[in-house]
Amino acid sequence: MNLTPIISRISRLATVIAVTSLAACSGPEENEQAAQAGTSYNTSLNIQQLMALVLEPAADVLWDSGGWILDASGYEELYPTTDEGWEFVRSQAAVIVETGNMLALPARAEDNDAWMIYSQGLSEAGLRAMAAAEAQDNEEYFQAGAQLYSVCTACHQAYNPDINNRFVSDAGN
Ligand code: HEC
Repeated sequence: MNLTPIISRISRLATVIAVTSLAACSGPEENEQAAQAGTSYNTSLNIQQLMALVLEPAADVLWDSGGWILDASGYEELYPTTDEGWEFVRSQAAVIVETGNMLALPARAEDNDAWMIYSQGLSEAGLRAMAAAEAQDNEEYFQAGAQLYSVCTACHQAYNPDINNRFVSDAGN
């Protein structure tokens, strides 16, 4: 492993820290400095893409791996049965935790009110699912999935009610 780039980044970071600690340490001024240094978020993906390409695939993994189904071939448990299986759903739950932050970015948030509460709710449901996956606790994992579902539908109800109608028609499958 070549450590040179990491070391040069660390020393750059040290310089930045030295410079910023010379200035008075107040939040807004630090933000201003960050803005001047060109720090910015890449928000090329719009909300629709973030939903369809990042959040929904992760949420589908969670929901498809919890609960049970009863069909012609009988009763089937959907929960992971191996450590690897639980590790995978845990990683998808982590995507959900971070998607809460991505939705809360200034360029994406639709307001500084309910939108932020739903975004945080998403992260909280994701953290609950992560903990349940780590404990391999079926019941708790199922509850986390239900909590997640209620956050999705609450935000859609508030900001784009048409989406919920699509969810309902999907649920029949
Ligand atoms: C903070 C609010 C918020 C949360 C939380 C949220 N969504 Fe969305 N979602 C939206 C908005 C707004 C749209 C409409 C985007 C558009 O079309 O411009 C949307 C659209 C979608 C779409 C349609 C995408 C498309 O291709 O048209 C899907 C699917 C979706 N969300 C899935 C989910 C799932 C699954 C969850 C929960 C795991 C979730 N969303 C949580 C706000 C949210």
